[in-house]
Amino acid sequence: MSKFWNPLIKQLEPYVPGEQLDDPAIIKLNTNENPFPPSPKVLKAIQEESVKLQLYPSPTVDELREEIGSFFSLKKEQVFVGNGSDEVLAFSFMTFFEPGKTIKYPDITYSFYPAFAKLYQLDVEEVALEDDFSLPVEAFFQSEGGVIFPNPNAPSSLYVKIEAIEEILKNNPDQVVIIDEAYVDFAEASAVSLIDSYPNLLVVQTLSKSRSLAGLRVGLALGHPDLIEGLNRAKDSFNSYTMDRLAIVGAIEAFKDTAYFEKTKQEIIAVREYFRQELEKRNFYVLPSQTNFVLASPSDMEAEKLFTQLKQEGFLIRYFNQPKLENYVRISIGTQEQMSKLLDAIDRIIKK
Ligand SMILES: Cc1ncc(COP(=O)(O)O)c(C=O)c1O
Repeated sequence: MSKFWNPLIKQLEPYVPGEQLDDPAIIKLNTNENPFPPSPKVLKAIQEESVKLQLYPSPTVDELREEIGSFFSLKKEQVFVGNGSDEVLAFSFMTFFEPGKTIKYPDITYSFYPAFAKLYQLDVEEVALEDDFSLPVEAFFQSEGGVIFPNPNAPSSLYVKIEAIEEILKNNPDQVVIIDEAYVDFAEASAVSLIDSYPNLLVVQTLSKSRSLAGLRVGLALGHPDLIEGLNRAKDSFNSYTMDRLAIVGAIEAFKDTAYFEKTKQEIIAVREYFRQELEKRNFYVLPSQTNFVLASPSDMEAEKLFTQLKQEGFLIRYFNQPKLENYVRISIGTQEQMSKLLDAIDRIIKK
């Protein structure tokens, strides 16, 4: 705390990301990164673009917005892009939510939302998830200031059907409903199909998970052109160049290389299902994940102990020391080889 900080900065509770260790000996399964490298086409485009780094990038990022638009069958006016979906979410909170009008999000959810709420001095109703971590859909109806939740939710890994999202949209006609689809490529379907029917829907996605580009920092928002115009007003009052040249060309190639995207995504889903079954054989309760991670509870030992002992064995997973999650660990899905090694380590720990 410093006397030079203004009162707003003094009251913030910043988000704390999962540990980022650079040690190659550690198998890192704690921040839901993709175990596969980016598409070779992405790497080639970035290398070629690097000779132009003396020039500013495009402030409107039209080429990438057009590419994303064509992927989702939307116009570029329905696409906003930014420096990771965290930044896109920050602009979305800034643009659509306001102090004095209570917004709703789940009590167990992405822990950046409370940090944004503090930053923008918003009033929040944290809606309690059901005991099985499912979303109480009707509790999100008639919000005063708007709604946000991830679908699938994190860290629960659970997916809400599009029909339920549609009900939430219908019951918040004058408020923006933000669906954070960071993990949707590993799930049943995106809410993008509802965009043309609901001007209050903003869908946020990221290239950090299913497209292996967490280090490039690219996120996007999809919605009615009026919502996108609002986001651009916020961005251009803050930083016109949130996306650098390398991120722009890399993201364009990532969207073009659909074959690589499909192949790596299917592989992760297959490994997830294998890993879930193997955990169940070892007496874990595993939530039915539609993401690239699982939330699991060991019945033969404490979750926190498992987390600590796996760390000693060179495996980084995530433990959340918070109500309702004390008995769970979150494990990102790596390669088949990484998950087999992890299972061997779990067996050694259980035997002890
Ligand atoms: C639900 C959810 N939303 C958004 C993000 C942020 O992703 P990024 O800023 O890398 O695009 C994450 C990252 O873990 C997440 O879990």
